[in-house]
Amino acid sequence: MSKRAHNFCAGPAALPTAVLQRAQAEMLDWQGKGLSVMEMSHRSDEYVAIAEKAEQDLRDLLSIPNDYKVLFLQGGASQQFAEIPLNLLPEDGTADYIETGIWSKKAIEEARRYGNVNVAASAKGYDYFAIPGQNEWQLSKDAAYVHYASNETIGGLQFDWIPEVGDTPLVVDMSSDILSREVDVSKFGLIYAGAQKNIGPSGLVVAIVREDLLGRARSVCPTMLNYKIAADNGSMYNTPATYSWYLSGLVFEWLKEQGGVAAMEQRNKAKKDLLYKAIDASDFYSNPIAANARSWMNVPFRLADEKLDKAFLAGADARGLLNLKGHRSVGGMRASIYNATGLDAVEALVAYMAEFEKEHG
Ligand SMILES: Cc1ncc(COP(=O)(O)O)c(C=O)c1O
Repeated sequence: MSKRAHNFCAGPAALPTAVLQRAQAEMLDWQGKGLSVMEMSHRSDEYVAIAEKAEQDLRDLLSIPNDYKVLFLQGGASQQFAEIPLNLLPEDGTADYIETGIWSKKAIEEARRYGNVNVAASAKGYDYFAIPGQNEWQLSKDAAYVHYASNETIGGLQFDWIPEVGDTPLVVDMSSDILSREVDVSKFGLIYAGAQKNIGPSGLVVAIVREDLLGRARSVCPTMLNYKIAADNGSMYNTPATYSWYLSGLVFEWLKEQGGVAAMEQRNKAKKDLLYKAIDASDFYSNPIAANARSWMNVPFRLADEKLDKAFLAGADARGLLNLKGHRSVGGMRASIYNATGLDAVEALVAYMAEFEKEHG
């Protein structure tokens, strides 16, 4: 078998080796049909069965209630930043947004192009190291929806609670923590997630929409961005990202084999506990995030002397610990430890961190 490094990339992120092997085995000849999934008509019985199974497995994994549609869309999570107001924000309405970092800020900037946005709370006052509690939020009286990002992939800031917003639809960007721990889907009007972290290849975005929110799109909303049209056409109004959808389906099957989301949650807890413990036990490494807001998925950390960053990264690379460089906007390091990154990867990282500190600390 070819060598597989420990990949800590924030996205596109590591995929389970077993999934890639299965895709490889099925590449030229899918189940004796003599063709690749990539070469199938999306209208064929075979492909429709692949697509439907993927949806059903995702429904099972997240216990998605029957009154929600699951959409497999394109344009990544960033396109949702526009798609959400175009579908849910009336021209004279207001949408509430919670700002906790770079991704929620981008969602806010995009929504402002389409209507009135109230930033009901911001983590800016905490230097983005903590999430303002709901008692600090200034929600509007008649908001069309409340939007937040459950995990800020760059800052490493994650909600460990679900906001209470009454009857107002709650909209969440779950791009970087969907399927990583259990969640009650019925609390949300809309959940969306770019695929390239915990789902599958990039380009695809999954949207889980409560049915009563369909059919509210503005008349100018492009056909391709209209949730109702996507739902009415089984996410096949046009040619969908067929291969990404198939591969995501393989990831869902793999997740079920692993014991589902509850098992991933336990595994992810063990991984993040090990890594934060190593960071906190040393004066050489640091992570500034408030304890209850530390991300389980993206762990940014700094070295005591940033002049050592280059040597740290070079040593990591040499040991097959890849993509640990922090986002260009914050510097330092970041280890993304999504579902497909095992405890063995975190153990290897922690061992390297101790070794590096011994040599340079
Ligand atoms: C939380 C979050 N939201 C949105 C995005 C944007 O996703 P995409 O690149 O699929 O548009 C990302 C990408 O990393 C993300 O982490």
